[in-house]
Amino acid sequence: MNRLYACLILCLAIFSHTTLASVLAIDYGTDFIKASLMSPGQPFDVLIDKDSKRKIQSTVGWNREDRLFGGTAFNMAGRFPTDSFSALKLLKAAPFESSTVSYYMSISTAELLKSARGTVAVRRPDGSEWNIEEITAMQFAYVRDLAEAALGGEKVSDVIVTVPPHFTQHERDAVIDALEIAGLRTLSLINDGTAVAVNYAMTRSFKETPEYHVIYDAGASSIRATVVSFTSTDPKSKSAGTQLVVHGVGYDRQVGGIELDRRLRELLISDFQKKHKKDIRSDRRGMAKLWKEAGRVKGILSANNDAVSSVESLAWDIDFRTKVTRADFESACKDLRPRFTNPLFDALDHAGLTMDNITSVILTGGASRTPMIQTALKSAVADKIAMNVNADEAAVLGAALHGAALSRQFKTKDIRITDICPYDIQVSYQAEAKSEHAKPRTINTLVFPSGSKTGTRKTLTFKRKDDFSLKLTYKQQIIPGYPTDILEAEIKGVADAIQNLTDLGATDPVVKATVVLSESGFVSVHEAVAFGDIKDDSLTGKLKGLFGASSSASENTTADSPTAARSETDTSPAASSTAALPAAEKKPANDNTVSLEVKINLSSIPPMSVAEKRTAREKLATIDRQEAAKRRLEEARNSLEGYLYRIRDLLEDNSESPFNKCSQDAERAALKDRMEETFEWLHEHGDHAKTHEYLEKRTAVESLEQPIIHRYREIEEFPVALNNSQMWNWSTRLFLTEAFENLTKAEKEETVSKYTEQELNDLEKALKEHEIWLNGVVEKQKKVKMNEDPAVESSELRAKAKVLENHLQKLVKKKVPKPKKSSTSSRTSTSSTTSTAKSSSESTASGSSSPHDEL
Ligand SMILES: *[C@@H]1O[C@H](CO)[C@@H](O)[C@H](O)[C@H]1NC(C)=O
Ligand SMILES: *[C@@H]1O[C@H](CO)[C@@H](O)[C@H](O)[C@H]1NC(C)=O
Ligand SMILES: *[C@@H]1O[C@H](CO)[C@@H](O)[C@H](O)[C@H]1NC(C)=O
Ligand SMILES: *[C@@H]1O[C@H](CO)[C@@H](O)[C@H](O)[C@H]1NC(C)=O
Ligand SMILES: *[C@@H]1O[C@H](CO)[C@@H](O)[C@H](O)[C@H]1NC(C)=O
Ligand SMILES: *[C@@H]1O[C@H](CO)[C@@H](O)[C@H](O)[C@H]1NC(C)=O
Ligand SMILES: *[C@@H]1O[C@H](CO)[C@@H](O)[C@H](O)[C@H]1NC(C)=O
Repeated sequence: MNRLYACLILCLAIFSHTTLASVLAIDYGTDFIKASLMSPGQPFDVLIDKDSKRKIQSTVGWNREDRLFGGTAFNMAGRFPTDSFSALKLLKAAPFESSTVSYYMSISTAELLKSARGTVAVRRPDGSEWNIEEITAMQFAYVRDLAEAALGGEKVSDVIVTVPPHFTQHERDAVIDALEIAGLRTLSLINDGTAVAVNYAMTRSFKETPEYHVIYDAGASSIRATVVSFTSTDPKSKSAGTQLVVHGVGYDRQVGGIELDRRLRELLISDFQKKHKKDIRSDRRGMAKLWKEAGRVKGILSANNDAVSSVESLAWDIDFRTKVTRADFESACKDLRPRFTNPLFDALDHAGLTMDNITSVILTGGASRTPMIQTALKSAVADKIAMNVNADEAAVLGAALHGAALSRQFKTKDIRITDICPYDIQVSYQAEAKSEHAKPRTINTLVFPSGSKTGTRKTLTFKRKDDFSLKLTYKQQIIPGYPTDILEAEIKGVADAIQNLTDLGATDPVVKATVVLSESGFVSVHEAVAFGDIKDDSLTGKLKGLFGASSSASENTTADSPTAARSETDTSPAASSTAALPAAEKKPANDNTVSLEVKINLSSIPPMSVAEKRTAREKLATIDRQEAAKRRLEEARNSLEGYLYRIRDLLEDNSESPFNKCSQDAERAALKDRMEETFEWLHEHGDHAKTHEYLEKRTAVESLEQPIIHRYREIEEFPVALNNSQMWNWSTRLFLTEAFENLTKAEKEETVSKYTEQELNDLEKALKEHEIWLNGVVEKQKKVKMNEDPAVESSELRAKAKVLENHLQKLVKKKVPKPKKSSTSSRTSTSSTTSTAKSSSESTASGSSSPHDEL
């Protein structure tokens, strides 16, 4: 396994030359979130959170003002039971009146209310209300921030998220809405069983004949099984890819780790009631503490036959202590036993296979460790149980691989996925009224029967003369209390278009609507056109007639846009579904199709509107801003405090420290006064002050320390700057001596000299002025004590030397006037300097004209 990942990382390294966007995979669970990052140059692994956990507790909570995530947020429930929000996956798109919500209320201590859209929101103790998408968006943003921190601040926006295969369109919409609020771009949703299968296939090779496996996933909120097959795409090739096909899924939405926890807590509750004769259910804190305790005890019972449960000060100051045996626990869950294995057999039924066809049942999900689930499975499938994937991480790693493949930016093993939708999806519409008084008749057509491949489209043909609507619905009720309607597509402009086609000579024009089932499992009406065969009497027209495709059969073609997870139903303007799309692939030369307007009206649990999402994003941004301001405030306070302690240490230190040597008694006294004053201020007002006050207080103390620091910096700097000045002094002097000699020689030989006398005199004058100034300041500086301000700043020394240097350089770089000998000109082109302190021979002078490179 590690070797293959190493290869993958190598591939990433090869591709890392170009700028690549990273892909973030999130396995969004009821109890835990796992995340993985696919990024060039980064090891491919699971992200760890701020508590170094690979599994991040799926909780958002607050400790009064401070927002918390992960384990700390979960543990906060015992103190603030209405300010810690867990298991929110259960509530995705849940109508407030549904049994899902009453079930959630039985396990959670949060305060729920009905959102404007009829779904669920939570109310914090401070009175603020947040819908589930918003809280979920906080979790996604938190994971994104972890990923960005792991990349050293590089932005991450592309994300792939797992969902259970049984998630409906409404639930999928709720996930995407949360991602959009968090500002993330969804590459795709992936069914979690499929993601585990990708992870399984990653390190294995297959034959031409399909090999069937079941991914059995016992999660916190549900148990699901996915029947998959693996085939080699090209068995002869060494780098053969894998074709992964999902054949069937089975699920139970009401059994999983949470239900086991609930039953275990019931045992604890009844024990408490018996012992203490008090109704613990009326105590939110106590119930929250017991919820955490139930999870802990369940873990112990997975490895032991009994466990001691002990909660200090559970409620009414009672320290609760009891013993739970595994037998008690299992007997409390006895009725669930068939439900542990039913999803497996449902999935096989759905796939049309039996256990005989299955090579192995691959266990995954946190609850797959529970002994009673393993026992139930063993008795059902005997020796086919395989525990060869990481039960916690296989889904997120598989999702990351698929996300990387979708982004087309990484070279990964070629694993092609064919997934399915487990529900019957039908199209309903009103038949055209035969007469004015006839009762409208509704026609239902199964457009995507259960098991239909995702990433496909179907074209439906209608004989219509007027505008009409198509309703997409689930044929059966999927979850009690949830609506079955998905969306309604109004097809407009029919009469006009049909008339135009008839006018062009079309016979029997029809309306064609394309229904898409996307890779991410969203169904929508993608486009509609009016179409009519127009007689073309020319020869080419007749030939076309011979070869042209039939126009009435519905076609199944693969939808070609894997990246747009939900463009069909997205209500954002950029991906508006109301825009009529251009006509289908095989558009004949004749203008015999006319685009129609498709207006989508969403179901009774609509996804959030653009405006709602914008508001939500702003709410979250406000929190982010507040938290950033708070961080700055804390930093300013800590920095002031730390600074004051440092000053105090400096003042209390009696050694010959630079600070003491470079300061006067009066200065230290003033600094001490201000330090003490500021300490006092911090003591009195430190808890309520503003960021700028801390900063100003620090500046006020610093202004007294600054002159002292400056002195000892100057004591170090001055000799270096002086050395530099003397260097230029010396170089200029050498240059002048030689240049004057050359001038005299040239005059004698009556040749042209490089420099005029005037030029050299000017430089000499400048040199003398510099020398006099330098001598003067050096004399002054000698008299200055260490604890006094310097007579001259090293910066001034450097500035003066620079003036001299520039003057010298100007002459050095001067072109020789009218060269008489070629040797002179070739020398100029090497741009050598004058003699320097290091070398008197010009030919070895370096290209750099400055003796001190740092200048
Ligand atoms: C499944 O097993 C049955 C019985 O062994 C066999 O007849 C059938 O062909 C198998 N189906 C597949 C798809 O392998
Ligand atoms: C029908 O034809 C008329 C005239 O050419 C044009 O203005 C109108 O837009 C057409 N309608 C449709 C639906 O194409
Ligand atoms: C289209 O798909 C349906 C079910 O997915 C299938 O029954 C039908 O034969 C397919 N039609 C074509 C033309 O492939
Ligand atoms: C859109 O759907 C909602 C809910 O099904 C319905 O109340 C409303 O009348 C519909 N609007 C249109 C224009 O069809
Ligand atoms: C001055 O510069 C020379 C030559 O670069 C160097 O040898 C000497 O140590 C320097 N002196 C100081 C005080 O920096
Ligand atoms: C400048 O250089 C000349 C010649 O090398 C030297 O005599 C003089 O003392 C130097 N002046 C200073 C201030 O370094
Ligand atoms: C002086 O003349 C010699 C010989 O031509 C030459 O190498 C040198 O660069 C000249 N010096 C200056 C400062 O011009």
